[in-house]
Amino acid sequence: MDNSANRVRVVSAADSEKRLAAEAAAELVESGMTVGLGTGSTVAHLLPAIARRELRNIRCVATSVATAEQARELGIPVEEFNSLNRLDIAIDGTDEVSADGWLIKGGGAAHLREKIVAAAAERFIVIGDSSKPVEALRGPVPLELFGFGAASTLARLGAEVELRDVPSSPDGGTIADYRGEIGDPAVLAARLEADPGVAAHGLFPPTMVSEVLICRGETVERSSFPGR
Ligand code: 5RP
Repeated sequence: MDNSANRVRVVSAADSEKRLAAEAAAELVESGMTVGLGTGSTVAHLLPAIARRELRNIRCVATSVATAEQARELGIPVEEFNSLNRLDIAIDGTDEVSADGWLIKGGGAAHLREKIVAAAAERFIVIGDSSKPVEALRGPVPLELFGFGAASTLARLGAEVELRDVPSSPDGGTIADYRGEIGDPAVLAARLEADPGVAAHGLFPPTMVSEVLICRGETVERSSFPGR
């Protein structure tokens, strides 16, 4: 049986949800704001939505080269993240969001920069399609390992961590994935953070998240979390 027509419909439904969530988030950006731009296919819809708003005097930082390039093509000013010491808002996609607001990010291997940008933002807004909410996080959990001693870090982390076949990050890190049990994400996050070879992991706690905008069909559902 040829399922290609169904497959195309499923793909475009998710894409349309990503676009609607992104467009709702773009409305939260105001003239004069400093803005963190995430990475991924949902953020690819956010950038044109921000550009269409013709905002004045926004200053943006990007979490990946791909985002910086798309933003500049659309006329959105992007600067290096070394002169701004805080951001008014950051908007990014997610791979998973649990009912209690934990995220798994880093499917696009940009989680180190994404976490630094989210941590600098007054409000961190998460956007996604209806496939992203989960009862409990499933994984895998993306990792970025310092290049220095990466083989020894991998040996310490054990068989649950596998290298990902992608180039090094722009910061020289090695990308890997933790494929073991997640259990309590706070416990796993603390365990990963305790290893000196782990530069970043893709678990983002609810205390980092201000609002999650998930689109189901044509409706964008908004949930608030503690933020900072
Ligand atoms: C990149 C990310 C992305 O935000 C995450 O993978 C979601 O991607 P998409 O919007 O393409 O579904 O964390 O590192």
